[in-house]
Amino acid sequence: MISLAGASGGVCLSFILVVHNGSVSDHLGNDLGNDLGNDLRNDVLNSDRVAIFGSGGQLGAELVADFTRRGYAVSGFTRGQVDITDAAQVEQCLAHVDPAVVINAAAYNQVDIAEKEPQQAFLINGLAVRNLALACRQVDARLVHFSTDYVFDGLAGRSYVETDVPRPLGAYAVSKLAGEFYARAYLDNALVIRTSGVYGPAGLETARGNFVEMMLRLAAKGGPIRVVEDHVASPTYAPTLASRTVDLVERGAQGLFHIGGGAPISWFGWAVKIFAAAGVHPPLKPTNEREFRTAARRPNYSALSNAKMESLGIAPMPSLDEAIGLYMLARSRKTGEAKS
Ligand SMILES: NC(=O)c1ccc[n+]([C@@H]2O[C@H](COP(=O)([O-])OP(=O)(O)OC[C@H]3O[C@@H](n4cnc5c(N)ncnc54)[C@H](OP(=O)(O)O)[C@@H]3O)[C@@H](O)[C@H]2O)c1
Repeated sequence: MISLAGASGGVCLSFILVVHNGSVSDHLGNDLGNDLGNDLRNDVLNSDRVAIFGSGGQLGAELVADFTRRGYAVSGFTRGQVDITDAAQVEQCLAHVDPAVVINAAAYNQVDIAEKEPQQAFLINGLAVRNLALACRQVDARLVHFSTDYVFDGLAGRSYVETDVPRPLGAYAVSKLAGEFYARAYLDNALVIRTSGVYGPAGLETARGNFVEMMLRLAAKGGPIRVVEDHVASPTYAPTLASRTVDLVERGAQGLFHIGGGAPISWFGWAVKIFAAAGVHPPLKPTNEREFRTAARRPNYSALSNAKMESLGIAPMPSLDEAIGLYMLARSRKTGEAKS
């Protein structure tokens, strides 16, 4: 069972309420236009209140920041504050906040460990989404939920579009697909966003971290590093993913959308870019899934096409080089702050 660490029995008493007027540009300097944002918001939302679950995660932290910058009244909840597997907690929390939009950035993301504890994965990624969807119905809120490129089997050999049929290959992937179904079964206007290989500066502080941090840790140890070359995804920079998510919300988008990093790349190729951006040169060699066995099966090619998102006039994702450069900048700011 999941513990209720830090909840102290009082549901929602300790939520973070942040209200301030937003700025006019996103992380990439795109002019978002406050007035335009407000007009769009008034058209599609009945209030400016947004509740974000999983706010301590890589994406959750960026969503709190982006919605706040754009002037929304944001209530962010870490797992210690609200455990989404507890239906009563979720229900009371949303009754208290009464948001127009509920964002679920909480997830169980341990792909290999899920093979040993599929119930836990299903509880958080599947059944908890049902809790959120039912509670959203009660307060008439729009649910935004995140899913994964791993719902696909990777056999298409091209970037996946929203109309492609999912075929998950393991417990984590099945649990995430169940979450998608729950969100859309109980709500007609849910927005489900599939993404891929998320990395954001909050990963420096989370227990799970991200691929970039793992690579940099291995590089610091100095030993040889082997990374699979026969698995291709689209690594996605969390701050831009958050920004594009808010764009979709402000356009009233519903249904299924893909937001990946925009460019397919193998994990080996991605490691090369990470080390180049970090200015380090560890001994790096390609490997493959035959040599590097994992508990969970993964799709060989799970890059996501962003064409549907872009067809709404939303800016494309930055190039991988630009995004990793921004990550390194944000990272050095964060590590600098931590040292001073
Ligand atoms: N990371 C990736 O590579 C990746 C790839 C594809 C899709 N996605 C999807 O993208 C979304 C965001 O991922 P992310 O990278 O931001 O994940 P993350 O950094 O691992 O954050 C997930 C957050 O969810 C919280 N959480 C876990 N169980 C919870 C519960 N029962 N109640 C409340 N909060 C809970 C975690 O808290 P604790 O740390 O305290 O457990 C953590 O803060 C997720 O839907 C994920 O499945 C991620």
